[in-house]
Amino acid sequence: MSLLEIEDLRVSFPGKGFRAKPNEVLHGIDLDVGAGETVGLVGESGSGKTTIGRAVLGLVPMAGGSIRFGGQEIGGLAGKARRGLASHIQVVFQDPYTSLNPSMTIGDILAEPLIVQGATAHDARNRVRSLLDKVELPRDAVDRLPREFSGGQRQRIAIARALAPAPKLIVCDEPVSALDLSTQALVLELLIDLQRETGASYLFISHDLAVVRHISHRVTVLYRGDLVETGPAAKVTRTPDHEYTKKLLLASPVADPEAQQHNREARKRLLAAE
Ligand SMILES: Nc1ncnc2c1ncn2[C@@H]1O[C@H](COP(=O)(O)OP(=O)(O)OP(=O)(O)O)[C@@H](O)[C@H]1O
Ligand SMILES: [Mg+2]
Repeated sequence: MSLLEIEDLRVSFPGKGFRAKPNEVLHGIDLDVGAGETVGLVGESGSGKTTIGRAVLGLVPMAGGSIRFGGQEIGGLAGKARRGLASHIQVVFQDPYTSLNPSMTIGDILAEPLIVQGATAHDARNRVRSLLDKVELPRDAVDRLPREFSGGQRQRIAIARALAPAPKLIVCDEPVSALDLSTQALVLELLIDLQRETGASYLFISHDLAVVRHISHRVTVLYRGDLVETGPAAKVTRTPDHEYTKKLLLASPVADPEAQQHNREARKRLLAAE
């Protein structure tokens, strides 16, 4: 049994206009994430990556299928039962500028989930210090506001907040996409270290194959609401089986100009063959 088991997940949004048909954006997704595992989810914009993450978090209604967590169905959970899951499933979003409450100090942001769980003020204070150490921020950050921190630092605060209740699973939706390249690398390494330390699983969403290859154990490729390919990260991101993954791979930027040229030509051949 995997920690997270998604089976035949379907999600529809209401169509636009009078009597419009609902618009199905996920057409039956099967995906599982093991304990301590990182599964990367890639695909072009609009393919449904965020919607899968939001379904796991209970933020979009399901039109069909099931989502099990630790063997228990969590698909239709609402209210108190869903809130109870918050200590097990957490999320890190893309934009560190809007995901942190601007009027709360870092100390309060990190302590809030702990207090909700019933921690005493004293225990929460100690735990906040250790969280700041974990994400390599100075302890005096507790008294400061989000605006006093850079994008990379804010994303580390968001990661600390996600880690606060010691969750088993963290949905990471483009967590490094808003950061510059060197900060991306730092935050990715931090996430990898934290996983070793905590054993948390990541469902790691990104449009960037290089990022996903670096952090994931397995990679799943999504195309217009269908999974096209799942397998070991190196295999899927270097020698994929599916034509769509090949195109995605060729479209991803490469630092080496020679490899870039090679990709451009291979892409032209693929397109010409269609
Ligand atoms: N709340 C919503 N209401 C209606 N349609 C939605 C809603 N959320 C998403 N969609 C549609 O569902 C599809 C998948 O969107 P989703 O945000 O999951 O894509 P994505 O793969 O995360 O894209 P990106 O890489 O741009 O973040 C899109 O066609 C989008 O327009
Ligand atoms: Mg998205």
